[in-house]
Formats: sequence, structure tokens, C-alpha cells
Amino acid sequence: MPNLFHSERIIRVEQLDSTNLHALQLIKDTNPSGGTVVMALNQTEGRGQQTNAWESESGKNLTISLILRPDFIKAQDQFQVSMIVSLGVKDYLDTYSEDVSVKWPNDIYVSDKKIAGILIEQSIMGAYLSHSVCGIGLNINQKRFLSDAPNPISLHMLTNETYDLEKELIKLLASIENRYFQLLNGKGYELKDDYLKAMFWMKEEHTFKDEEGQFKGQIVGISEFGQLLIQDEEKVVRTYNFKEVSFIR
Ligand code: BTN
Repeated sequence: MPNLFHSERIIRVEQLDSTNLHALQLIKDTNPSGGTVVMALNQTEGRGQQTNAWESESGKNLTISLILRPDFIKAQDQFQVSMIVSLGVKDYLDTYSEDVSVKWPNDIYVSDKKIAGILIEQSIMGAYLSHSVCGIGLNINQKRFLSDAPNPISLHMLTNETYDLEKELIKLLASIENRYFQLLNGKGYELKDDYLKAMFWMKEEHTFKDEEGQFKGQIVGISEFGQLLIQDEEKVVRTYNFKEVSFIR
């Protein structure tokens, strides 16, 4: 099987507004093949979830966007892309630290601190996905965070080492590629199982908040469409799309 990522398909740029925006523009303009990677040392308008900005000090971290063409994934299964990327990032981090988890849908945590964020923007053609732009911000060498992002941490803050971004990029891409082929090779059930095992707060009592207010419950899994399933104190399983529920404590 050919590799997904190749060094000659990594586009390195000193500065961009946002690697996701650049990747989306490339898809419009040049029809790049799946596996193309856009990497910027600095983003002037790095985008996070919702309307948040993504804080990343110039030259310190990995801020990349992967262009995938997962045309074997049905539109209704699009959460599989989140699972591939989240678990790929987790697998990479597992080589450096204990207690790495995926806070649904795709924030990567070490203990109770966020080390990476993922922003996926994808389009559908008929019943299948046509392309995905998977933006990853992974904190590597940054020592201090200035924004009000909750609980940021970097690999440097965890290990006291300084890392070569190029080497880490290649290692990270290899981990994500493994997860991509896990799905492509018909092992989607393993991918989902690993995702469930990796979930932050899985089967623990916690407080959540939805549009009706705060409640206590336990995460019990995800639906077949990737929605979050939380069982409340009355043993009712509530189903949430992204942004419909927050994790309180
Ligand atoms: C989040 O809010 O957790 C998602 C953050 C995603 C940040 C990455 S950095 C590379 C890519 N380009 C962007 O503008 N955003 C994503």
C-alpha cells in the first residue's frame, strides 16, 4: 500500500493567516492530492473551535493542516476522520507521556491540560466524503501561554526537553497514517474501540451543562454518528452534537 504522507508533499511556509484557510484555498485552486500537508511556522489568524483564535508562538509549535481525500468514508461516518486524527495525535503523545486522552470530540489532553486542538473542515460529494482539511495545533516547545485558553500545556512543559519540529512532524504524520490505514484496511471497529478507550472522563461521575442547565452524569460512549452519549443520574442516556454540551468539573 502506498504511503499517505510523503516528504515532497509537505508545503512549508514561514507565515500564513491560517493553514486551514490555505489548505481550503489549495483545494479550490490546484486540486492537491490526498496526503498533502501545509505547515506554517507562524499563523496570523490561527483558528480554533467556535470563534476562538488558536494561540501559538511563532516557530515553537506544530500548526499544520492535512488534506485528506477519504472518499471511502460515507458522509454519515464522517466522525471517523476525527477518530483517525485524534488517535494519531494521541499515539504520538503516548510515546512521551502517560495519561493522554481525547476530550470529545477531538481535543487532546494530558491529565487535565490541553496539549493539542484539532479543527476539521470537510466536504461531501453524494453519499461520501470528498475532502477533509484536518487542522492540528500541537503545543511542542512553547513555555508560556498568554491567551485565556483553559489549561494549555506543551510537550516542553511536560518533559523539559526542546524538540526539533521537523522530526516531530514526521513522527506525528506516521502515527496519523497508521490510524488512516487501520480504517482503510477494514478495522473501523478497532478504531472506534480505541477511541472509546481513549476518551477523557469516560465512565466517571462528572458535571456537564446543556441548554437546560447543569447535571451530573457519566460519558458512556459515542453514537454511530459520533455524538456524545452521557448517562444522567436517572439513567437516561442523553445524546449531544458538538457545542450542545460542556464539560464543567
Ligand atoms: C481548537 O480550538 O481546539 C482547534 C484548534 C485548531 C488549531 C489548528 S493550528 C493549524 C490549523 N490552522 C488553523 O487555523 N487552525 C488549526
